[in-house]
Amino acid sequence: MVDKGTEMRNKYISRNSKFDYLPDNDRYLTLVEQPKYKFNIIGCGNMGLEHMRVTMLEGRASIHGVFDPNPKSFKLAKKQFSELSTEHTLVEYETLEMACNDRDVDGLIICTPNYTHIDIIKEAIKSGKHILLEKPMTTTLEDAHHIVQLAKKYKAVFQIGLQYRYKAIYEEAIHEALKRKALGDIKTVSIMEHRVPFLDKVKQWNKFSKYSGGTLVEKCCHYFDLMNLFAQAKPVQVYASGGMAVNFKEFEYGKEKSDIIDNAFVTVLYDNGVRTNFNLCMFSPLFYEELVICGDGGRLKASENEDFLSAGRPRNHLEVMLGEGKPSKITTPCYPKHIEESGHGGGTYYEHVYFVDNIEGKNTSTATVEEGFWSVVVGIAAEQSLKQGKAISVEEMLKEYGLLTYA
Ligand SMILES: NC(=O)c1ccc[n+]([C@@H]2O[C@H](COP(=O)([O-])OP(=O)(O)OC[C@H]3O[C@@H](n4cnc5c(N)ncnc54)[C@H](O)[C@@H]3O)[C@@H](O)[C@H]2O)c1
Repeated sequence: MVDKGTEMRNKYISRNSKFDYLPDNDRYLTLVEQPKYKFNIIGCGNMGLEHMRVTMLEGRASIHGVFDPNPKSFKLAKKQFSELSTEHTLVEYETLEMACNDRDVDGLIICTPNYTHIDIIKEAIKSGKHILLEKPMTTTLEDAHHIVQLAKKYKAVFQIGLQYRYKAIYEEAIHEALKRKALGDIKTVSIMEHRVPFLDKVKQWNKFSKYSGGTLVEKCCHYFDLMNLFAQAKPVQVYASGGMAVNFKEFEYGKEKSDIIDNAFVTVLYDNGVRTNFNLCMFSPLFYEELVICGDGGRLKASENEDFLSAGRPRNHLEVMLGEGKPSKITTPCYPKHIEESGHGGGTYYEHVYFVDNIEGKNTSTATVEEGFWSVVVGIAAEQSLKQGKAISVEEMLKEYGLLTYA
């Protein structure tokens, strides 16, 4: 009974271990498709493990092996992989070159600390394999520009891990504001992220700007990508005010003091007149994101909330207020629970669906290297603005770095 019917199969049923007693031949609705592709993970810490789980949940690809110099990272990856698949054990590579050039492998998922991305990409790109590179693509403008140039000539898929676009609230906001154009012409965009402090990392790389690019590059490139997307234009001026108010003020690692900010207000103006702002607070006892878009035809507000309280309330909210012109709506956009819980509200899962779709030549809306570049441009301009206490002209900044082609 292994032929494929037309019944609606879903992963909630097919991946549910309570059906593991079924002989392979008797699986029909619970038939699990054999993966067509194999990926290697370079750097298997917090995000690498999420990519591993999600790859296996998505199902069209499997994880073949891992390269990670931290033995505990590989040990945990191996353990978690054994709970996800009994097909094989994870291959442990001794060198980056070996992981990048294994002939059995179709794609590379790079989730190492930000400052390592540039050197890893220089090696990975020699393989010609499909690449999913975590955000932010680099910590400096020169390196970001370098990767844009490398990617221009690259024949295989080169995708940037800006997957917030696929969280349920943003996916629906994109649908309402950009596809359906329910709000008319967009004029202002406001995004807020309030959350707990940066988590512990291997060698605590995220506590130092020289390794992460700074808070506004490391974390906030996701929101700058969304602002760029909703503005549908290029950023021209960035002003940021922020500082280190609460977190890591006493933190030292290897005798070096942390230098990252934990709160900021960032204003970005776009070349079509759209105004945006971003409000960050990283000493909040919850994860909360909010988006407000105002157009000349209406207002959209969306929020996502993870507050650890026992009192239940919907995680996601989206409202579209269209006055007397069209019907308004108040909704709770969400994905099936097992997808939402697989990481970043389901954003990572759909990033993988579209990564495989990209490999198969389908048209998707995943973040391109160019879009990754512009999210880093806004983050770096915001970090510079903080330090200099003045607004940064994006054109001037790009000229200063000799990147006239973008200005
Ligand atoms: N897209 C998202 O939502 C999201 C979320 C979290 C992190 N990230 C990004 O993922 C990347 C990794 O972050 P993380 O939170 O997993 O950090 P982490 O410290 O938890 O894991 C990084 C792993 O990379 C390994 N590593 C370090 N240098 C390496 C090298 N040269 N080669 C191979 N492995 C190396 C470390 O040993 C560690 O296991 C960062 O770029 C981060 O910004 C993205």
